[in-house]
Amino acid sequence: MKRAVAAACVRRERAQILLVLLARAVSSVSPGCPERCVCDDQHVVQCAEQDLLNFPSGLPLTTRQLILSNNRISDLPALELNYLSDLLYLDCSNNSLTHISESTFGNLRKLAYLDLSFNLFGRIQEQTFGALESLVMLRLTDNPMLSEIHPQIFSVPSVLQVLDISRNNLNRLNVSFLMALGGLRSLGLSGNPWRCACDTEELCFWMHSNTFKFIEPFLSRLKSADVRGELLDKLVTAKKPSTWI
Ligand SMILES: *[C@@H]1O[C@H](CO)[C@@H](O)[C@H](O)[C@H]1NC(C)=O
Ligand SMILES: *[C@@H]1O[C@H](CO)[C@@H](O)[C@H](O)[C@H]1NC(C)=O
Repeated sequence: MKRAVAAACVRRERAQILLVLLARAVSSVSPGCPERCVCDDQHVVQCAEQDLLNFPSGLPLTTRQLILSNNRISDLPALELNYLSDLLYLDCSNNSLTHISESTFGNLRKLAYLDLSFNLFGRIQEQTFGALESLVMLRLTDNPMLSEIHPQIFSVPSVLQVLDISRNNLNRLNVSFLMALGGLRSLGLSGNPWRCACDTEELCFWMHSNTFKFIEPFLSRLKSADVRGELLDKLVTAKKPSTWI
């Protein structure tokens, strides 16, 4: 009898210890912040420079700013990304991204700022940013293999104001792409191997009639130059990395 009572006590004690351990395990996982990231009460999730190879899992659904820069992430999974429907700011610069598609950003209707610079994109295909109806600023610089941007990567009308596609491997750009961006205020095109042929002449004329969109000192140089083939070559491939076209 005594032994039975003692055994029951031990069992109860064990159960209690187990409960305590379980509670500790649960509370040590701070609710909804991925490993190696820091989440604050302003809905900012900071995961920069953490040697991440994959998109962090378990992001808070209320995330508004997500900073993934300086990692080695090679894929943006559409499913996980599109749960973040409150996202305003996404910095994926300096990763190993090679591919994005129409579905990647398919549900990010509030996203205003997107940085995809310093990645490994080869081409940007049709409607890639079509769902981003609030996108104001797109930085897509320093993708050494990026040689093609489809003229219809945005839906119409787009509210984009700032576009930087400097220092890629672009040699042509369909001018209808720029003409469709009615709200564009600044454009960076420098550091691309622009080809100056008949099909880029249109681009030259567009640039000439939209000089207000380029910042100094490019403006004065453009005004004094003749808008002809080699102009693009001279102006657009300005060497200084910080020059906006
Ligand atoms: C990219 O990230 C790596 C690793 O954090 C860093 O060493 C490198 O300086 C970064 N490059 C740029 C251009 O920011
Ligand atoms: C430029 O884009 C428009 C619209 O997508 C297309 O109709 C046109 O054929 C393109 N022009 C060239 C030279 O690719």
